[in-house]
Formats: sequence, C-alpha cells, structure tokens
Amino acid sequence: MRNESPTPSQNQEEEDFLCSVCEGLRSRPKTNPPKYFYDAHGSQLFDLICTTPEYYPTRTETDILERHGAEMAEMIDPSCTLIELGSGSAIKTPLILQHLAPDAVYVPIDICEPQLLNSTQRLQAMFPKLRMQPLCADYHQLPGHVIKRHAGKRQVVFFPGSTIGNCTPGEAVKLLKRIAELVGSSGGLLIGVDAKKSTGILNAAYNDSAGHTAAFNINLLKRMQSELGAQLDVEKFAHHAYYNDAHGRIEMHLVSRCRQAIRVGLESFEFEEGESIHTENSYKYTAQEFQKLARTAGWHLRSTWRDENQLFNVHYLSQSVAEPLKLAR
Ligand code: AVJ
Repeated sequence: MRNESPTPSQNQEEEDFLCSVCEGLRSRPKTNPPKYFYDAHGSQLFDLICTTPEYYPTRTETDILERHGAEMAEMIDPSCTLIELGSGSAIKTPLILQHLAPDAVYVPIDICEPQLLNSTQRLQAMFPKLRMQPLCADYHQLPGHVIKRHAGKRQVVFFPGSTIGNCTPGEAVKLLKRIAELVGSSGGLLIGVDAKKSTGILNAAYNDSAGHTAAFNINLLKRMQSELGAQLDVEKFAHHAYYNDAHGRIEMHLVSRCRQAIRVGLESFEFEEGESIHTENSYKYTAQEFQKLARTAGWHLRSTWRDENQLFNVHYLSQSVAEPLKLAR
C-alpha cells in the first residue's frame, strides 16, 4: 500500500508557512519573511536573477573569490570543516573547495532540499575526496550539535551572497553571535557583504529588465495559492523595489493595485490600493560599518577582499585578535 500523505516534515513546513503568512498579514505594515521565496521555483528564479546584467553581487563576489580563493583557503585553514549557510545552488563554493586539503569536510546547509541534494551531488562529483555532510535546515534555528565535530578540525562558516543583508542590523548581530557559538572560539567566518553604492546601481539590481526579480517576488503569492489555497489574484499585485537611503537597505514590496482582500486559512486580509506586503530587506554595509557590527558580536576583522569598483566585500573574521595571521611574510 502506498502512503500518499505528505511526510510529517512537509506538513510541518506548510504549517509554518501558513503561520508566517497569517502573522505577516496581520502586522502593520504587512510583511512576509524572505526565506519563503526559496521553494524549488523561487530558487530557480533566484539563479536567473544572478545571470542578469543588472544584478552585480553574484558575479562580483564570484570574481573576488576567483582572484583570492587560494589566499582565503590558506587563511581559514585548508583542512577545516567548512559550513556553508544557505548554500543554494552552491555555484561559488568550488572557488574555495578547490583550494582546500583532501581531509577538509564540507557541510552545506539549506532549507530547499532538492537544491541541497542536487548541488551536493554536483560538488561531490567535482571533489570526490572531500567528505560532505549536507544538512536540510533553516540556519536561523540551527542547533549546534547537528554539525558533527571532527577532532582537530577548525570550524569555519562560509556565508557568501550577502545573505546577511536580509537581517536587520540587530538580527545580524544575533546571527553573528550564533555563528560564533556554532564554530567555537577557534572558529572563523568568511562572509560576503554587499557594499553601499549609488542608488541608481542598487535600484537597477532589484528591477532587472528581464523581470526575474519581479517574478521572484510574485512567486511568493503563487506559493500562497498553491500550498495554502490562498484566494488572491496575482495580477492585482505589483513588484516594487527601491533603495531606502535612511535605512541603508533595498526594500522589496508587493503593492496592491486596488482595494482587495486575500483569503487564507480562515482569515481575510484587507488591502487598500497602494498598500504593500514588505517582502524583503537587503541591507548594504561599508567595510567599516560591517566591521563595527561584527565586533559587537565578538568577531574581529582579519582581512577584506573587494573588487576594483568596490561594489562588494568578502570579509574574513576570527574570534580572537591574538591568533597569528597565516600570511606569507
Ligand atoms: C540572496 C538575500 C542576498 O538581497 O540581493 C535578490 C536576494 N532579492 N534579488 C539580495 C534577492 C532580490 C538577495 N540575497
């Protein structure tokens, strides 16, 4: 007999999604957490965004990792356990893995299971000797014990893509503290952070002319329809993204084109014309701002690599100032 009921974890996932959506629609302003962008289709759309000429972060960070990956690997310890948070399709990861020692361990963590398994398979084929331990989880709720510690291995978190930008500065400090606990006092953090720059460049990056960012934002409404049975008309919402200079962040919204209601669960949520669901923040930090933020969370900046146009920074941080720098003299 075939068991056609969803697995408990799928049930749990849907329940969490429903709870988040209703909670977000009850708040003023209405919001929704960005992690729900990343179902299988949303993850594909994100990969498409990364190929657009306007969305500079991915190719810029890739370029930085290509140029300096060897030096980064040397600094973090080539024999470390590398834990990647929100690994997604892990396109940039080989740029670090290729410089690690054969006894290194790679632990990719992502909430999108199909993507996690696909990308781990691809990486394992590229690096057959590396031990890989994929983990399907939300890294905001990660219990430390789920990552196996290997004796004598330094734990280093790899957090590329400026995903930290989704957090408010207060949440970012909490997450950075959490990462510090996770890797322990001898651990490290290699993190990509998008930089402040002209509003024109920023606005274009979140309003690509191919419309992939708009589709990515709208996909959230489609998920509500298909997974939660929400009653809404996707056509009645518009993608809106702009740089909020006062807060140093890009804001993404789904703006209601008219007066309407979304019905989901047992509730009905009214929208005025022009009222929005705030779907994402993407904070931008100068290197100095990020250094200060990280210091509040107990991290010390050891090195920063950037592109020549200073669009993007990759920082390496450790928890002790005393640790000798592994740099060639
Ligand atoms: C993956 C969170 C870094 O904020 O730039 C891209 C997500 N949203 N376009 C970002 C995103 C719209 C991206 N992060």
